[in-house]
Parts: sequence; C-alpha cells; structure tokens
Amino acid sequence: GTGQFFVGGNWKCNGTKQQVAQLLEQLNKGKVDSSIEVVIAPTFIHLPHVLDTADSRFEVGAQNCWSSGTGAYTGEISAEQLADLGVKWVILGHSERRSLLKESNEFVGEKTAYALSHGLRVIACIGETLEQRESGQMYNILDAQLEALANQISDFDNVVIAYEPVWAIGTGKVATPDQAEEVHLHIREWFTERIGEKDAEALRIVYGGSVNEKNAAELAAKEDVDGFLVGGASLKADAFVTICNAHT
Ligand code: G3H
Repeated sequence: GTGQFFVGGNWKCNGTKQQVAQLLEQLNKGKVDSSIEVVIAPTFIHLPHVLDTADSRFEVGAQNCWSSGTGAYTGEISAEQLADLGVKWVILGHSERRSLLKESNEFVGEKTAYALSHGLRVIACIGETLEQRESGQMYNILDAQLEALANQISDFDNVVIAYEPVWAIGTGKVATPDQAEEVHLHIREWFTERIGEKDAEALRIVYGGSVNEKNAAELAAKEDVDGFLVGGASLKADAFVTICNAHT
C-alpha cells in the first residue's frame, strides 16, 4: 500500500499501575523512526496515565467502545468519552471480543460507524479461525466481516484494517509472509472494488498474530503488509520498538 506504515500495540488486559509506568518509561526512551505511525492501546483504566505520560511520538488508543452515546449502558465507555479524554484511536472487532463476548459482524460495524462519527480513528479487526481456513471458508468469513463494515460506513480514510488470523493470535504460530500477503492482497482487491484503487492503495492493512522482533522485518517487506497490530510483544519495550522499525 501507499499509506504510512502503522504499528499498534494492543496491551489487552495487562498491566498494574507500576508495570504500565515502567513500560512507558522504557518506550519513551526508545528510538522509533519518525516515518512510522505508532499507537499504543492500554486498558481503559490506564488511559489517563498513558495520555499524560507517553511521549508525543505515541498516539493512544482504547481497545473497545460502546455502539452509541453516553447514557444508561452500565459498564460501557462511549466514543464521546474517549474523544473527550484525548484518545485518538479505538480497536474494534478484535477476535477476542468476537469470540468471548459474542460480538457480531453487525455490532462491530455499528460501533465502527459510531466511533468514526465522533472523531475517533478505528483499527477494525478481522480474521478467520483455523477450522474456517482449513474448510475453505476463509474468504467467505473475511468478506462477511468486511461487508458488515462497508454496510455502515463508506469512508475508510480513518480506518486501519487489521488482519488477524485467530490461529496466530497469542499462539507463537505466526502466518508466513506469503500467507499474510495472500490475504492482504485479497483485502486490498476487495476494497478496490468498493472504494476505488487510489483509496484502496492508501488504506493501511496491517497484520496481527504472534508478530515479534524476529519475524517482523520479513512480514513488513511484503507489498500489502502496511504494518502490524502487536499483542504480547507490545508489552516489551525493546521488542516493540524493533517491530516498529522493522519497515525502515
Ligand atoms: O491485537 C493483537 C493480536 O491479537 C495479536 O496478539 O501478538 O499476542 O499474538 P499477539
């Protein structure tokens, strides 16, 4: 793609106050190349501290938000509240939420539309399970996930698509560069039909699933891999900085 290389660190449900402070201290010392866009996404409760403490080099994202505004939605956080806090990004449709919390394609589409309309930028995650891949349903599954997004939004300027094969998440079983490239190219072609070649080329399609400091460069070299969404390795400052610079 032609978009700026993008790396997100999804901290998931990790970190004590002390661990978050320590990770930030190390990240702030890290030398991330100025050409890379970097977003770190802590838990909701750590957001204020991260917003105050992280070097301006790092943009800050949340890991979820509600599908509509503030109101009687116990336990939820709205896009307005995130924007008010200074959060710029939100991860939506992560496979852990799709499977553990039964979030449907439509619900993820609704949340994406709402977050975008309130000024947040969205890292929208899609991915297939091993069973779906092995039974030949992979592209049907991915297309349905994309379709549900495109049903609710037409402008993808503020969206990054994260392709995260479920079998690669947290397993140490990274997709090969060729496997990633094959799917990223498919996604790019899907968008070319929807939003035209120029916008589809500019859309960042990032890979997630067991990315680490050793495998990142080879993946980053692929034409349609425009960055990463990193889980486990984003909790280690050295590894994360190396991954960010893998494209340079
Ligand atoms: O959002 C990040 C992905 O789920 C990848 O997680 O790098 O720990 O495999 P992982």
